[in-house]
Amino acid sequence: MKTMNNFSDKVIYQIYLKSFKDSNGDGIGDIRGITEQLDYLQALGVDYLWITPFFVSPQNDNGYDVADYRSIDPIFGTMTDLEELIDEAKKRGIELMLDMVFNHTSTSHQWFQKALAGDEKYQNYYIFKDGTPDQPPTNWESKFGGPAWEYVPHLKKWYLHLFDVSQADLNWENPQVREELKEVIRFWKEKGIGGFRFDVVNLISKPEHFENDHIGDGRRFYTDGRHVHEFLKELTADTGLDQYVTVGEMSSTSLDNCIRYSSPAEKELSMCFNFHHLKIDYKDGKKWELMEPDLMRLKGLFETWETGMQEAGGWNALFWCNHDQPRIVSRLGDEGRYWKESAKMLAASVHLMRGTPYIYQGEEIGMTNPHFDDIHQYRDVESLNYYNILLEQGKTSREAMEILQARSRDNGRTPVQWNAGENAGFTEGIPWISLASNYREINVAAQMKESDSIWAFYRKLIRLRKEKPVIAEGQIAFMEKENENVLAYRRILGEEELIVFNNLTGQTTEVCLEDSWKNYRILLTNYEGEESGTEQNLKNVSDDRWTLRPFETLVLEK
Ligand code: GLC
Ligand code: CA
Repeated sequence: MKTMNNFSDKVIYQIYLKSFKDSNGDGIGDIRGITEQLDYLQALGVDYLWITPFFVSPQNDNGYDVADYRSIDPIFGTMTDLEELIDEAKKRGIELMLDMVFNHTSTSHQWFQKALAGDEKYQNYYIFKDGTPDQPPTNWESKFGGPAWEYVPHLKKWYLHLFDVSQADLNWENPQVREELKEVIRFWKEKGIGGFRFDVVNLISKPEHFENDHIGDGRRFYTDGRHVHEFLKELTADTGLDQYVTVGEMSSTSLDNCIRYSSPAEKELSMCFNFHHLKIDYKDGKKWELMEPDLMRLKGLFETWETGMQEAGGWNALFWCNHDQPRIVSRLGDEGRYWKESAKMLAASVHLMRGTPYIYQGEEIGMTNPHFDDIHQYRDVESLNYYNILLEQGKTSREAMEILQARSRDNGRTPVQWNAGENAGFTEGIPWISLASNYREINVAAQMKESDSIWAFYRKLIRLRKEKPVIAEGQIAFMEKENENVLAYRRILGEEELIVFNNLTGQTTEVCLEDSWKNYRILLTNYEGEESGTEQNLKNVSDDRWTLRPFETLVLEK
């Protein structure tokens, strides 16, 4: 039986395979590269590895364009390599989670190829609409820029692609499609996989009638669509997914829907990713327009989602980083003077909340954006599309580059910085994408040796979640609500209690101290060697105010 408790004390580590570790010198990370680093992951203490897609793919969207759900792309290794990884991971108490890209397939998938060849059965696997080349079925836009429909002249039909033109949306309304996808899950379960991540899974249910969107890009017609909950319930029931850890990536979703997706009683998924907290620096909600982060909004979103999920029994995936996001220390922290403190504060701020934390490769050592200054350094299809769109909109190439430096998905995709050696120890060949140039200072080998490194701090956070039920299972209540600078909350479980303060800014700032807290012990701080010092000070303070240093995290335990 699935209970919330079988994943509330777990921590999940995301591996973006292409950039994790290359074992054979071709410059591309691979499955054997993960196996080589299992001891490292065990030392960190993580429970699950979510591995981004390694299936056969033309790699137009780095594997999120799947051409065969059951085979491994040779650039990443073989089935034997994967079986070895599964076994070796299990020996270390680590399970694998695979990435199921079920909203769309690559247009190279044999289903789509058969559809193109005129086979009606397979045309029904996708969303084809009759038409003429001058008139797309709707005015919807692709999430990677440009129209969401592509015309196939010899069929006189358009097909829908919410992402790249080579990623055709599947027709989930067709029961045969749903059966095919269930078979895929069963196939990977047999191999001993411990969980699944579902790519943009709240987009699978399209409307009955397709109409133009006069106020947006079309997303309101297919986001959290009319049958999505039914489809997920069916998928879970028919494949026994409720025995596994599952997470759905939810694009532009709502709290109400995420409660339904993740409540145990609904038997849909274990938990959800939502992205609202990562749009707080989007001007007017637009990713490609820069703005200073709105911290009040960030705090408000955390509160709404944390308390909303708590009240209704839903469960959040907690995260700052993934392969689609810039590095958080570059975005909300500080790459300079407070690099270490800010990276630790950002870690603590989400790891101590109610939900399941995700660590994205390199986050545990405070990797930064690479600040590429040449468009040829970019690899990502979305970034390259938007670079052209920004130029068409009249931006200079310099302005467009500045936006990419802040927003491109490639910011999170540079190779993991393992050591100070050539190519940061990622590959003996030529890396498929440039490294960030700071790898001589920021790398795993250096941080594993230091007791107060960012790495050591992440390791401590993972351990604390396992040692303290109040972190894994406690209730959460937010504090300092009017204080823009501080993300603060209280966790309570029976007699156990934690008070968590995070200064989100590079300035000192004050928080309110209740008298009783002055006798609490300091569980965690992110400033070097000052733990006991602060404890002393707290005991003696007569005031009800306490000053947090720049980016300081202070955690008090009853
Ligand atoms: C998800 C993935 C992203 C991919 C998109 C289309 O958002 O995380 O990398 O491009 O879906 O599959
Ligand atoms: Ca390789």
